[in-house]
Amino acid sequence: MDTAEKDKPQNEIHHMAFIMDGNGRWAKKRHLPREYGHSAGAKKFREIIRHCANRGIGCVTVYAFSTENWKRPKKEVNTIMKLFRDYIKEAERDFEKNDVRVIFIGNRKVFDEKLRREMETVERLTASRSKILCVAINYGGRGEIVDAVNSLIAKGAASVTEEDITNAIYSGVVPPPDLIVRTGGEMRLSNFMLWQSAYSELFFTDTLWPDFTTDEVDSIIEQFCQRNRRYGGI
Ligand code: IPE
Ligand code: IPE
Ligand code: MG
Repeated sequence: MDTAEKDKPQNEIHHMAFIMDGNGRWAKKRHLPREYGHSAGAKKFREIIRHCANRGIGCVTVYAFSTENWKRPKKEVNTIMKLFRDYIKEAERDFEKNDVRVIFIGNRKVFDEKLRREMETVERLTASRSKILCVAINYGGRGEIVDAVNSLIAKGAASVTEEDITNAIYSGVVPPPDLIVRTGGEMRLSNFMLWQSAYSELFFTDTLWPDFTTDEVDSIIEQFCQRNRRYGGI
């Protein structure tokens, strides 16, 4: 690396997103029911978001449940929803200990009144924090764009601009992800942040989510810093 190269400003991370995939296969490898993988994944999620906050990353999004994940067996869906409820209770109880603003993106209409109220409570209690944790639950990127356009039409728009959509999507307060990390070996977005990912740097690792480590996060951040983000320029 020559001096000019070394002195080049490194890429900054405003927003890092994780597609937390591989819980089921992690359990299967251990001859355990898939539900165990989700419990292990929920623990890992806490460790990884803490690490990202310690590294000073202003916004982290985790993809927890997609609009397509309802296709799974009821027992598995119930386990994931229970883990989600547990996290919300914990976030509400410990809100003073944690220094992050929690927001949820995704279609909430499917959740019962009680859960929706709890989600709103956590969002309200943490609203003044500067760091953001964004949890994508019952989230789908296509649905998000359709909902955004419909909300603009409901306000009287006859046509929309890119800026209108950017402001109307669920994640209005979060910047587009600078990098999206997917664990579990699949190289696809699976309906995650389709609008926001236009210029995200993508990272795929074979590591299954419950086996993911903070060292691997650090290594991905290092690689991200070396990427040449051109945005269509030269
Ligand atoms: C990710 O792990 C968690 C969710 C999609 C809810 P998976 O459950 O998809 O795990 P694999 O991909 O089957 O191993
Ligand atoms: C993506 O994982 C969704 C989440 C991690 C929440 P999936 O396991 O649902 O994705 P596909 O089915 O392999 O594309
Ligand atoms: Mg999967």
